[in-house]
Amino acid sequence: MPRDAQGHLVPGRIAPPLPIPASIPRPEYVGKRGPREYTGNDIYAPEQVELIRESGRIAAQAIEAVGAAIRPGVTTNDLDVIAHEFIIGHDAYPSTVGYRGYPKSVCTSINEVICHGIPDDTVLLDGDIINLDITAFKNGVHGDLNKTFVVGTASPDATALVERTREALARGIKAVAPGREINVIGRAIESYARRFGYGVVRDFTGHGVGTAFHSGLVVPHYDAAPAFDTVMEVGMVFTIEPMLTLGSITWDQWDDDWTVTTRDKSLTAQFEHTLVVTERGADILTLP
Ligand code: MF3
Ligand code: CO
Ligand code: CO
Repeated sequence: MPRDAQGHLVPGRIAPPLPIPASIPRPEYVGKRGPREYTGNDIYAPEQVELIRESGRIAAQAIEAVGAAIRPGVTTNDLDVIAHEFIIGHDAYPSTVGYRGYPKSVCTSINEVICHGIPDDTVLLDGDIINLDITAFKNGVHGDLNKTFVVGTASPDATALVERTREALARGIKAVAPGREINVIGRAIESYARRFGYGVVRDFTGHGVGTAFHSGLVVPHYDAAPAFDTVMEVGMVFTIEPMLTLGSITWDQWDDDWTVTTRDKSLTAQFEHTLVVTERGADILTLP
Protein backbone atom coordinates (compact mmCIF):
# COMPACT_ATOMS: atom_id res chain seq x y z
CA MET A 1 0.00 0.00 0.00
CA PRO A 2 2.26 2.92 0.99
CA ARG A 3 4.70 2.20 -1.86
CA ASP A 4 4.21 3.00 -5.52
CA ALA A 5 4.74 0.67 -8.47
CA GLN A 6 8.49 1.42 -8.44
CA GLY A 7 8.67 0.59 -4.74
CA HIS A 8 9.09 4.21 -3.66
CA LEU A 9 7.51 5.45 -0.47
CA VAL A 10 4.17 7.27 -0.61
CA PRO A 11 2.21 8.78 2.28
CA GLY A 12 0.32 6.30 4.43
CA ARG A 13 -2.32 6.65 7.13
CA ILE A 14 -1.21 8.36 10.33
CA ALA A 15 -2.75 7.06 13.57
CA PRO A 16 -4.39 9.41 16.10
CA PRO A 17 -2.17 10.98 18.78
CA LEU A 18 -1.11 8.82 21.73
CA PRO A 19 -1.78 10.18 25.23
CA ILE A 20 0.98 11.72 27.33
CA PRO A 21 0.38 11.84 31.11
CA ALA A 22 -0.39 15.36 32.35
CA SER A 23 2.28 14.81 35.03
CA ILE A 24 5.06 14.99 32.40
CA PRO A 25 6.22 18.59 31.84
CA ARG A 26 5.88 19.87 28.26
CA PRO A 27 8.38 21.97 26.31
CA GLU A 28 7.19 25.57 25.88
CA TYR A 29 6.30 25.15 22.17
CA VAL A 30 3.64 22.48 22.73
CA GLY A 31 0.23 23.89 21.84
CA LYS A 32 1.79 26.81 19.95
CA ARG A 33 2.63 27.26 16.25
CA GLY A 34 6.34 27.08 16.93
CA PRO A 35 9.01 27.58 19.55
CA ARG A 36 9.71 30.94 21.16
CA GLU A 37 12.91 32.49 19.80
CA TYR A 38 15.83 31.23 21.88
CA THR A 39 17.87 34.08 23.30
CA GLY A 40 20.26 32.06 25.48
CA ASN A 41 23.65 30.75 24.45
CA ASP A 42 24.92 27.22 23.72
CA ILE A 43 27.26 26.93 26.74
CA TYR A 44 26.14 24.79 29.68
CA ALA A 45 27.49 24.37 33.20
CA PRO A 46 28.50 20.81 34.20
CA GLU A 47 25.29 20.21 36.21
CA GLN A 48 23.17 21.21 33.19
CA VAL A 49 25.27 18.99 30.94
CA GLU A 50 24.45 16.04 33.21
CA LEU A 51 20.74 16.81 32.80
CA ILE A 52 21.13 16.84 29.00
CA ARG A 53 22.95 13.52 29.34
CA GLU A 54 19.98 12.12 31.28
CA SER A 55 17.58 13.17 28.51
CA GLY A 56 20.05 11.91 25.91
CA ARG A 57 20.35 8.53 27.61
CA ILE A 58 16.57 8.08 27.61
CA ALA A 59 16.46 8.94 23.91
CA ALA A 60 19.36 6.54 23.20
CA GLN A 61 17.76 3.71 25.16
CA ALA A 62 14.50 4.37 23.32
CA ILE A 63 16.34 4.02 19.99
CA GLU A 64 17.78 0.69 21.18
CA ALA A 65 14.34 -0.55 22.24
CA VAL A 66 12.72 0.49 18.96
CA GLY A 67 15.67 -0.79 16.91
CA ALA A 68 15.27 -4.24 18.50
CA ALA A 69 11.72 -4.38 17.09
CA ILE A 70 12.79 -3.67 13.50
CA ARG A 71 12.02 -6.59 11.19
CA PRO A 72 10.10 -7.16 7.96
CA GLY A 73 6.34 -6.86 8.54
CA VAL A 74 6.28 -4.23 11.29
CA THR A 75 4.85 -0.81 10.53
CA THR A 76 6.47 2.50 11.34
CA ASN A 77 3.45 3.19 13.55
CA ASP A 78 4.31 0.04 15.54
CA LEU A 79 7.76 1.58 16.07
CA ASP A 80 6.21 4.87 17.18
CA VAL A 81 4.15 3.10 19.83
CA ILE A 82 7.30 1.49 21.27
CA ALA A 83 9.19 4.80 21.23
CA HIS A 84 6.30 6.64 22.84
CA GLU A 85 5.75 4.14 25.64
CA PHE A 86 9.48 3.97 26.37
CA ILE A 87 9.90 7.74 26.61
CA ILE A 88 6.84 8.48 28.73
CA GLY A 89 7.70 5.38 30.84
CA HIS A 90 10.92 7.20 31.77
CA ASP A 91 9.03 10.36 32.75
CA ALA A 92 10.25 12.21 29.68
CA TYR A 93 8.36 14.02 26.94
CA PRO A 94 8.87 12.98 23.29
CA SER A 95 10.12 16.34 22.02
CA THR A 96 8.81 15.96 18.49
CA VAL A 97 5.15 15.69 19.58
CA GLY A 98 3.62 19.11 18.93
CA TYR A 99 6.88 20.59 17.61
CA ARG A 100 5.73 22.86 14.75
CA GLY A 101 2.81 20.49 14.32
CA TYR A 102 4.78 17.23 14.08
CA PRO A 103 2.46 14.49 15.39
CA LYS A 104 4.60 11.53 16.52
CA SER A 105 7.29 10.45 19.02
CA VAL A 106 9.92 9.36 16.49
CA CYS A 107 10.87 10.26 12.93
CA THR A 108 11.02 7.13 10.74
CA SER A 109 12.85 7.78 7.48
CA ILE A 110 13.02 4.84 5.06
CA ASN A 111 15.27 4.44 1.99
CA GLU A 112 15.00 7.66 -0.08
CA VAL A 113 13.55 9.62 2.85
CA ILE A 114 16.33 11.98 4.00
CA CYS A 115 14.68 12.96 7.29
CA HIS A 116 11.43 13.74 9.14
CA GLY A 117 9.40 10.75 7.94
CA ILE A 118 6.18 10.43 9.95
CA PRO A 119 5.24 6.99 11.35
CA ASP A 120 2.22 5.57 9.53
CA ASP A 121 0.98 2.21 8.23
CA THR A 122 4.04 1.66 6.01
CA VAL A 123 5.25 -1.92 6.38
CA LEU A 124 8.99 -2.53 6.63
CA LEU A 125 10.36 -4.81 3.91
CA ASP A 126 13.48 -6.96 3.85
CA GLY A 127 16.29 -4.84 2.41
CA ASP A 128 14.95 -1.46 3.54
CA ILE A 129 17.09 0.92 5.53
CA ILE A 130 15.33 3.01 8.18
CA ASN A 131 16.49 5.92 10.30
CA LEU A 132 15.00 6.41 13.77
CA ASP A 133 15.36 9.93 15.20
CA ILE A 134 14.28 10.45 18.82
CA THR A 135 14.52 13.45 21.12
CA ALA A 136 13.58 13.28 24.80
CA PHE A 137 12.78 16.27 27.06
CA LYS A 138 13.24 15.98 30.82
CA ASN A 139 14.33 18.42 33.54
CA GLY A 140 13.84 21.25 31.06
CA VAL A 141 16.38 20.00 28.50
CA HIS A 142 16.42 17.96 25.27
CA GLY A 143 18.73 15.14 24.14
CA ASP A 144 18.58 14.30 20.40
CA LEU A 145 20.01 11.40 18.41
CA ASN A 146 19.33 9.18 15.43
CA LYS A 147 20.59 5.97 13.88
CA THR A 148 19.98 4.09 10.64
CA PHE A 149 19.13 0.38 10.74
CA VAL A 150 19.06 -2.29 8.05
CA VAL A 151 15.84 -4.33 7.81
CA GLY A 152 16.80 -7.98 7.33
CA THR A 153 19.48 -8.05 4.65
CA ALA A 154 20.14 -4.98 2.50
CA SER A 155 22.13 -4.62 -0.73
CA PRO A 156 25.91 -4.17 -0.45
CA ASP A 157 25.52 -0.54 -1.62
CA ALA A 158 22.93 0.18 1.07
CA THR A 159 24.93 -1.55 3.80
CA ALA A 160 28.09 0.36 2.84
CA LEU A 161 26.19 3.67 2.85
CA VAL A 162 24.90 2.98 6.37
CA GLU A 163 28.32 2.01 7.73
CA ARG A 164 30.09 4.94 6.08
CA THR A 165 27.49 7.39 7.36
CA ARG A 166 28.09 6.06 10.87
CA GLU A 167 31.83 6.61 10.27
CA ALA A 168 31.19 10.11 8.87
CA LEU A 169 29.52 11.06 12.15
CA ALA A 170 32.46 9.58 14.07
CA ARG A 171 34.87 11.70 12.01
CA GLY A 172 32.82 14.83 12.59
CA ILE A 173 32.86 14.16 16.33
CA LYS A 174 36.66 13.65 16.27
CA ALA A 175 37.07 17.09 14.67
CA VAL A 176 35.48 18.76 17.71
CA ALA A 177 37.87 20.72 19.94
CA PRO A 178 37.74 24.01 21.82
CA GLY A 179 39.28 26.86 19.84
CA ARG A 180 38.39 25.38 16.46
CA GLU A 181 35.73 26.84 14.19
CA ILE A 182 32.52 24.82 13.88
CA ASN A 183 33.12 24.50 10.11
CA VAL A 184 35.90 21.94 10.74
CA ILE A 185 33.19 19.38 11.50
CA GLY A 186 31.65 19.51 8.05
CA ARG A 187 35.10 19.56 6.45
CA ALA A 188 35.90 16.22 8.10
CA ILE A 189 32.54 14.73 7.13
CA GLU A 190 32.54 15.95 3.53
CA SER A 191 36.13 14.91 2.80
CA TYR A 192 35.33 11.38 4.02
CA ALA A 193 32.02 11.15 2.11
CA ARG A 194 33.64 12.37 -1.13
CA ARG A 195 35.95 9.35 -1.23
CA PHE A 196 32.92 7.23 -2.02
CA GLY A 197 31.20 9.75 -4.27
CA TYR A 198 28.38 10.20 -1.78
CA GLY A 199 26.20 13.29 -1.69
CA VAL A 200 26.35 15.37 1.51
CA VAL A 201 22.99 17.00 2.27
CA ARG A 202 23.43 20.75 2.85
CA ASP A 203 19.97 22.06 3.70
CA PHE A 204 19.49 20.15 6.97
CA THR A 205 22.15 20.62 9.61
CA GLY A 206 23.23 19.92 13.14
CA HIS A 207 22.12 22.43 15.75
CA GLY A 208 22.58 23.74 19.25
CA VAL A 209 20.38 21.75 21.65
CA GLY A 210 19.64 21.80 25.38
CA THR A 211 17.11 24.22 26.81
CA ALA A 212 15.89 24.70 23.23
CA PHE A 213 15.29 21.83 20.78
CA HIS A 214 16.99 23.92 18.07
CA SER A 215 18.89 26.86 19.57
CA GLY A 216 19.75 28.70 16.36
CA LEU A 217 23.40 27.54 16.27
CA VAL A 218 23.90 25.75 12.93
CA VAL A 219 26.39 22.93 12.35
CA PRO A 220 26.88 22.29 8.60
CA HIS A 221 27.93 18.82 7.42
CA TYR A 222 29.83 20.16 4.38
CA ASP A 223 32.92 22.36 4.24
CA ALA A 224 31.35 25.78 4.76
CA ALA A 225 34.55 27.75 5.55
CA PRO A 226 34.99 30.68 5.89
CA ALA A 227 31.34 30.78 6.91
CA PHE A 228 30.06 29.15 10.10
CA ASP A 229 33.15 30.32 11.96
CA THR A 230 31.71 30.18 15.49
CA VAL A 231 34.57 29.07 17.72
CA MET A 232 33.83 25.96 19.80
CA GLU A 233 34.12 26.47 23.56
CA VAL A 234 34.21 24.11 26.51
CA GLY A 235 30.61 23.46 27.61
CA MET A 236 29.09 24.11 24.17
CA VAL A 237 26.35 21.57 23.37
CA PHE A 238 25.16 20.75 19.86
CA THR A 239 24.27 17.89 17.53
CA ILE A 240 26.12 16.53 14.52
CA GLU A 241 23.79 14.60 12.19
CA PRO A 242 25.13 14.03 8.67
CA MET A 243 22.82 12.81 5.91
CA LEU A 244 24.65 11.11 3.02
CA THR A 245 23.13 9.97 -0.28
CA LEU A 246 24.01 7.49 -3.02
CA GLY A 247 22.90 10.07 -5.59
CA SER A 248 21.89 13.71 -5.76
CA ILE A 249 21.24 15.92 -2.71
CA THR A 250 18.33 17.74 -4.35
CA TRP A 251 15.24 17.11 -2.26
CA ASP A 252 11.44 17.22 -2.32
CA GLN A 253 9.04 17.59 0.56
CA TRP A 254 5.71 15.78 0.74
CA ASP A 255 2.41 17.59 1.21
CA ASP A 256 2.51 16.49 4.86
CA ASP A 257 4.97 19.43 5.24
CA TRP A 258 7.51 17.09 6.87
CA THR A 259 8.76 14.12 4.86
CA VAL A 260 11.91 15.04 2.90
CA THR A 261 13.09 12.70 0.11
CA THR A 262 15.88 12.74 -2.43
CA ARG A 263 14.36 13.95 -5.70
CA ASP A 264 16.17 11.17 -7.59
CA LYS A 265 14.91 8.64 -4.98
CA SER A 266 18.48 7.61 -4.25
CA LEU A 267 19.10 5.94 -0.88
CA THR A 268 20.11 8.12 2.04
CA ALA A 269 21.31 7.41 5.58
CA GLN A 270 21.87 9.51 8.71
CA PHE A 271 23.40 9.24 12.19
CA GLU A 272 23.17 11.82 14.98
CA HIS A 273 24.56 12.45 18.44
CA THR A 274 24.26 15.29 20.93
CA LEU A 275 27.66 16.18 22.41
CA VAL A 276 29.39 18.64 24.71
CA VAL A 277 32.74 20.24 23.90
CA THR A 278 35.40 19.41 26.52
CA GLU A 279 39.07 20.34 26.92
CA ARG A 280 39.89 17.00 25.34
CA GLY A 281 37.42 17.07 22.44
CA ALA A 282 33.80 15.88 22.47
CA ASP A 283 31.84 13.97 25.11
CA ILE A 284 28.81 12.22 23.58
CA LEU A 285 25.62 12.82 25.63
CA THR A 286 23.35 10.40 23.76
CA LEU A 287 24.73 7.00 24.74
CA PRO A 288 22.51 4.26 26.22
N1 MF3 B 1 15.26 15.31 15.78
C1 MF3 B 1 15.30 16.09 14.56
C2 MF3 B 1 16.66 16.74 14.54
O1 MF3 B 1 17.61 16.03 14.57
C3 MF3 B 1 14.21 17.09 14.49
C4 MF3 B 1 12.91 16.48 14.26
S1 MF3 B 1 11.72 17.69 14.26
C5 MF3 B 1 10.33 16.85 13.87
O2 MF3 B 1 16.83 17.93 14.58
F1 MF3 B 1 9.39 17.64 14.18
F2 MF3 B 1 10.39 16.49 12.63
F3 MF3 B 1 10.25 15.75 14.56
CO1 CO C 1 18.97 17.06 15.74
CO1 CO D 1 17.28 14.31 15.80
